[in-house]
Amino acid sequence: MPTKIEKDVISGRDTTGHEWDGLKELNTPLPKWWLYTLIVICIWGVGYAIVRPSVPGLFSYYHGTSGFSTRAQVTADVAAIAAGRAGSMDKIKATPIEKIGQDPQLQAVAMTAGRITFANNCQPCHGAGGGGRPGYPTLASDSWIWGGKLAEIQQTITYGIRSGHPDARVNQMPRFGADGILKPAEIDAAADFVLSLRAGTKPGPNVAAGAKVFAENCVACHGEKGEGNREVGGPNLHSAVHLYGDSKEAVVAQISNPRQGVMPNWNTRLDAATIKSVAFYVHSLGGGQ
Ligand code: HEC
Ligand code: HEC
Repeated sequence: MPTKIEKDVISGRDTTGHEWDGLKELNTPLPKWWLYTLIVICIWGVGYAIVRPSVPGLFSYYHGTSGFSTRAQVTADVAAIAAGRAGSMDKIKATPIEKIGQDPQLQAVAMTAGRITFANNCQPCHGAGGGGRPGYPTLASDSWIWGGKLAEIQQTITYGIRSGHPDARVNQMPRFGADGILKPAEIDAAADFVLSLRAGTKPGPNVAAGAKVFAENCVACHGEKGEGNREVGGPNLHSAVHLYGDSKEAVVAQISNPRQGVMPNWNTRLDAATIKSVAFYVHSLGGGQ
């Protein structure tokens, strides 16, 4: 198509010379305000790219002349908050855990620090809000294995359970099946007895025989009637909340070859005031005694 620039009679403007089926394209200039805005934005963009961190590189990036960094800003903010809190955390460190609740301000700091510490460190095992998961006890009920008083919780968190720390809480349930201490029929009966302790469970056929096995092998840790023994960390077997499964298979498995769950010691990872705060928080979850 030949390009022929001519004037449009109606608007008086030049055409671009493009024509489609008799329609001609006008060569209308960009509005001035639009053009100037564009130029200003381009200049501003170049300036911004020079001053601020902008162009990515293979291993780093162009940092800009202003030295601005969101990471540095976060670090500074965190340091400022930590400095502000340091006073309170020092006070928590110096206050016996039973007295923290008497000072509303201290209590608020302990709860906040405890909640954050719990979410970062404990939640993966104990679940949100300490709800627990199979093998990881709920911390929100009053069914405690090792004790639900503030100092007891603090002790558990500090040194752990079977953590390998010399002051850890330790109790090894014998491997009644794996080590051949009981015969399979005795284990089966003991499981029937254990299940008979739990409300709402249909008792198995060998409860009486199981009671005898229990009396001879289990009371030292689980108590005369299976009520548990916090002194030695033997769980209450009546409790509606268990560490492991509800089914007979799960109970037989536990008696045969106990899991011996490990709770890490936190004294090497968290400072004393933080442990105190998270113990205070755990105590508040609903089961504190
Ligand atoms: C790696 C998994 C794991 C992590 C992480 C963990 N725990 Fe535990 N915790 C356990 C296990 C397993 C037990 C139960 C051990 C047993 O069989 O007696 C336990 C038990 C406890 C108990 C004793 C409960 C009772 O009934 O006496 C407390 C309290 C506790 N944990 C608090 C915490 C706190 C607070 C944190 C975070 C600072 C934490 N745990 C992090 C695995 C974990
Ligand atoms: C030396 C102490 C000890 C003896 C003896 C012992 N247990 Fe245990 N038992 C424990 C401990 C500690 C736990 C929980 C720790 C773990 O294995 O993680 C436990 C857990 C259990 C559980 C799981 C509880 C739950 O909440 O899910 C059952 C069931 C159980 N024992 C049954 C028995 C029976 C039945 C016997 C006797 C044949 C027995 N135990 C003897 C220490 C003992």
